[in-house]
Amino acid sequence: MADADPTAPSGAADITAEARRILVENDRGGYTVPSSRLYPFQWNWDSVFVALGWAEFDRERAWQEIDTLFKAQWPSGMVPHIVFWTEQSTYFPGPDVWRGGRGGPASSGISQPPVAATVVRRLVEDGGELSEGRYDAIDRWHRWWHAARDPEELGVMAVVHPWESGRDNLPDWDRPMAAIDTSAVGSYVRRDTDVVDPAMRPHKDDYDRYLALVEFGAERDWEDDAIATGSPFRVADPGVTAILLRAERDLAWMGRRLGRDVTAIERRIDRMEAGFERFWQPEVGHYCSFDLLTGRHAEAGTSASFLAPYAGIDMNLDRLVTELDAWSQACRFLVPSFDPRHPDFEPLRYWRGPVWGMVNYMIATGLAEHGHDRWAERIRRHTAELIERSGMPESFDPVDGGPVGGPRFTWTAAMWLAWAGV
Ligand code: DGY
Repeated sequence: MADADPTAPSGAADITAEARRILVENDRGGYTVPSSRLYPFQWNWDSVFVALGWAEFDRERAWQEIDTLFKAQWPSGMVPHIVFWTEQSTYFPGPDVWRGGRGGPASSGISQPPVAATVVRRLVEDGGELSEGRYDAIDRWHRWWHAARDPEELGVMAVVHPWESGRDNLPDWDRPMAAIDTSAVGSYVRRDTDVVDPAMRPHKDDYDRYLALVEFGAERDWEDDAIATGSPFRVADPGVTAILLRAERDLAWMGRRLGRDVTAIERRIDRMEAGFERFWQPEVGHYCSFDLLTGRHAEAGTSASFLAPYAGIDMNLDRLVTELDAWSQACRFLVPSFDPRHPDFEPLRYWRGPVWGMVNYMIATGLAEHGHDRWAERIRRHTAELIERSGMPESFDPVDGGPVGGPRFTWTAAMWLAWAGV
């Protein structure tokens, strides 16, 4: 593979200026939209990663991004995946379909990977002030994850909608989604394919199922118990679980700093450390999702498997690094979202192949923390090179490095500012 050249990015200052412009252009006053036409509202994990970009030139604005998100926290502690602060007609499904909000701003009824504690810790380590209120809000969110998405205390987090994983059309969800009844889904008009090439987006069959699941939750007023016991889609996700496990460690760090009793957090960490091994599939060499309704594991690796070290799990690290090496020989740019050797790999179709900057950031962080600095640096360099070649789109083709998905994408710009371009 021809990627061993560690040459520093050329034109880095120009890219940095452009990345800042993207953040400013997508700023809607207190929150940043991921991409102006494709995603015109506040998205949960987008916003939190974007705070890292803001922190590079406007620390107050970084905190504001996170604080705005938590203004939409539900009484249950859930922090929704979309907050509809304004009315916009360019996105479907909007607030009338979701029927979420619980007295606060209109929102979706599911959550998204909980990266907030980890990002807040980084802001605090960089000199920001940790407030009791922020700590409590994040702790409530984490407790919600355990109560609502792991009521049986298996130590793994379920997602009840592919959108809750943040990795919408991952091949992992194909089999669990196949069983979902779409007969009540009426006609609808998608807006995503007005903006992005349909070859880069989920299929209509996927959308029918996404909407059936939204309707299932909305009909039950998004009641956690009804969803935990009745949702036709409940899949334990190593991505969300790894991110939450990492976030719990960072929350405990903050709690100790504030002089709080963190025993409950430590118990949650112990449970998740033990639970994480349920994902391990030795014959695949990856941490694989499993369907909680059938007990069946996915049969291929995804980029989330490489988040194990980020979560502080190093049990199978040598094997994982061997897999990363094999992936690197199967495609030009790391880290594809799905195994590039697998027949379901599609380099352009959203989460079935493309490389995502913020996933690379998390994977590289974990690898560096566990002594794999060369791999971490290689992933950083690949991310920088992708941005140099293709600008700051939503994601990248791992085979030829071309841009994929929405244009002028905020979290890609933020990852350049906070990590890849540094
Ligand atoms: C979408 O609309 O594609 C989003 O990923 C849902 O969160």
